Amino acid sequence: MLQLPDIFDAQNYARVRSALPEAQTMPHWCYTSPEWHRREIDAIFRPAWHFVGLASMLPSRGSFLTAETLGQPVLLVRSDQGIRAFRNSCRHRGSILLEEAQGTCGGIRCQYHSWVYSLEGKLLRAPGTEESSTFDPERHALTDVRWAELEGLLFVTLDENAPPVDQYFGDFAERVARPYRIAEMACVHRRSYHLASNWKLYVEVDMETLHTKHIHRGSIGEQPVVSPPTSGEWITVFHESDHTPALAPGERHLGFPATPGISGAANRGTHFSVLAPGFFLVTAPDCMWWIQKYPETPTRTRVDVGYCFPRASLDRPDYAEVSARYIRRWDQVVREDDWITEFQQRGLPGSTPGCYTPEEHVVHRLDNWILDRVLGAAGDRTPSAQGVPG
Ligand code: FES
Ligand SMILES: [Fe+2]
Repeated sequence: MLQLPDIFDAQNYARVRSALPEAQTMPHWCYTSPEWHRREIDAIFRPAWHFVGLASMLPSRGSFLTAETLGQPVLLVRSDQGIRAFRNSCRHRGSILLEEAQGTCGGIRCQYHSWVYSLEGKLLRAPGTEESSTFDPERHALTDVRWAELEGLLFVTLDENAPPVDQYFGDFAERVARPYRIAEMACVHRRSYHLASNWKLYVEVDMETLHTKHIHRGSIGEQPVVSPPTSGEWITVFHESDHTPALAPGERHLGFPATPGISGAANRGTHFSVLAPGFFLVTAPDCMWWIQKYPETPTRTRVDVGYCFPRASLDRPDYAEVSARYIRRWDQVVREDDWITEFQQRGLPGSTPGCYTPEEHVVHRLDNWILDRVLGAAGDRTPSAQGVPG
C-alpha cells in the first residue's frame, strides 16, 4: 500500500499551480484515491448541472428518458403540462420505475406491486392501501427533480442551491448552442458503458490535441485548435476547417451539408467543449456528438455517448449511406480514446508527476480548475490559479 502525504495540503500542488512550461501534472493519487474522489463528488459533481438528454428526445405526451445522476435514478417525461423530472423510484418501497433509456408510456406503473402514477407524478392507484383510512395518495406522489432546458439540452441537478442553468454555463448558449442550432439536433444513437479509468483522464484527452496524430492516426490525424476565453463553468477549443472533422480524412468531402441557419464561427469550424464537470460536447457545422463522464469510483467511470444530426439531414434520401460513414468514424475514435484512458490509468499508481506540453495547456487549465474546487480557498494561493475556466 502506498504511503500518501496530506492530499488536501495545497503545498503538494504548488507545481501544478505553476505556469507552463514549469508546471507539473497532478499527483497520481488524484486519479486513484478514494478520499480525493469523495471530495470531487462533494465539491464538483454535487453542485453541478448534469446533462441527461435532448428536448427532442421527448417529442410528445408520454415520451420519456431515464438517466442516472450521482448514482440516483431520474426520469424525464413529457406530460400535458410540459416536461417533468422525477426520481425514477417508486414511492411505495423504492423500486425503479422506468427501465429503458428512452421510450413512450401512457402512465408510470411500478412493476413490483403495480402502483400507478400519472405523467404529472400523481399517485393514481396503490394496491394494498384500499382499506386504509389514513393513507394519503398526495403524500406519495413522485419526487420532483430540478431540471432545466438550455437551447434543446436537458440538465438536472440534485442541488437546490445551484444557480440557474443559463447562469451556470455563462456564455455557452450565445457562443455555441445558438450558433450551431443545437435545438435542431436529433439524437440517432446513444449507448452507455463503463471504463476502468478515472473520469478526469477522459476529460483531459478530450481537450488536448497532442494525442490526435498518435492515437487517432487513421481516424482524425492532426487537428490544430485555438482556445477562446469563456465565461461560466465551461471551456472550449475551436478547430477551423472547410471540411467536417466527423469523417475520416479521405471521406471528408462525402458528408452532409451544414445545419440550415447556423451562424458565425459555426460556419467556419468545430467547437470541442467541456461543460463542467464531465459533459464533452462537439458541435460541428454538420453534426454534433457527446461523451459524458460520470465517476463511479476513483478508477471506474460511466460513459454515455450520443451521436446527432440536424433534423433536415435525417430526411435526405441518402441518409442511411452517409450517416453510416459518420457512425463508423465516431465509433472508431471513441474506441481509441476509451483504450488510451484505460491504458494510462494502469501506469499511474505511484508514478512521479510529469509535465504539460504546449498542446496540453488546456489540460493544465482543467486540472487547476479541479484543484480550485477540491482544495477550495486553501488551494487558491498562487497567481497561476487564475485564468482557469469559469
Ligand atoms: S415498490 Fe413500487 S409498488 Fe411496491
Ligand atoms: Fe481523442
